[in-house]
Amino acid sequence: MADVTMRIWRGDADGGDFAEYTMPAVEGEVVLDVVHRIQAGPAPDLACRWNCKAGKCGSCSAEINGLPRLMCMTRMDSLPPGEPVTIAPMRTFPLIRDLVTDVSFNFTMARQIPAFEPRQADTPDGAFRMQQMDVERGQEFRKCIECFMCQNVCHVIRDHEENKPHYAGPRMFIRYMELESHPYDTNDRRELLRQRMGLGLCNITKCCTEVCPEHIKITDNAIIPLKERVVDSSYDPLAWLGRKILRRTKKPAAAAAVEAPAFAHPTSEDRLERTTVPGGATVSTAAASAPGAVADPSAAASDA
Ligand code: SF4
Ligand code: SF4
Ligand code: FES
Repeated sequence: MADVTMRIWRGDADGGDFAEYTMPAVEGEVVLDVVHRIQAGPAPDLACRWNCKAGKCGSCSAEINGLPRLMCMTRMDSLPPGEPVTIAPMRTFPLIRDLVTDVSFNFTMARQIPAFEPRQADTPDGAFRMQQMDVERGQEFRKCIECFMCQNVCHVIRDHEENKPHYAGPRMFIRYMELESHPYDTNDRRELLRQRMGLGLCNITKCCTEVCPEHIKITDNAIIPLKERVVDSSYDPLAWLGRKILRRTKKPAAAAAVEAPAFAHPTSEDRLERTTVPGGATVSTAAASAPGAVADPSAAASDA
């Protein structure tokens, strides 16, 4: 078989460039196989992250020929033959070295999601009984492997570092939807989504859905329904009247928002010590007040 040429980004936060490696082609290989052969041969110091080599751990995300993909699930024979294969690290996250980025932004946003808080079970035995459609809705979102490629392509943060403190991103939006649509959950995260998680900044371009290796319909099944719920809770007078008349089953929105720790940029200490939980401060008084108040002026644009 002919040789393959791999152009791989080499460098760190201070700068770098693409380096070319020409390797013998081997039938049936994926991109990660060739990267491993390069590590075992001409570039033993090449840094790349991987774990399962089965498309399930989400570690090996990279930009292959300009598209976010899993290196372990991208077959070499699916790429244009005879052309160099370009591999770059995900651009949205700070570069550590070569193909490895610091994705701790995502964990910081994940820690701010108010947890599942179940109501009393309906039966004396304490069992939760749910409609099958409610079970299946959540199962789609549970397929996420946290590859963060959806976060990587989202234009809201890809080229706008300043949006990160008030934008949860598509991966977190599916988690919010999973919890918000759970029939037993009592937390209400809609005001938090509107005021501090930037749901309104998403303009439904669907780029996140297109790159998801688990084929989760992020925009159609999570972001759009979340936007509808936020609009209902904030602006629909009939919904407001309904909540006044009917018994509320959810915790008040402001209370759920207050319980979420504020965003804190990851520090160099966090990168060294992953067990440190940044943040912990409570939301400002404005965010905790009546619906309609905006805690962060930059979040004003996020009204859905
Ligand atoms: S649909 Fe929204 S979340 Fe997804 S990439 Fe576009 S702007 Fe980002
Ligand atoms: S939603 Fe899809 S693209 Fe986003 S982190 Fe999960 S698996 Fe990856
Ligand atoms: S190595 Fe686990 S998803 Fe690629």
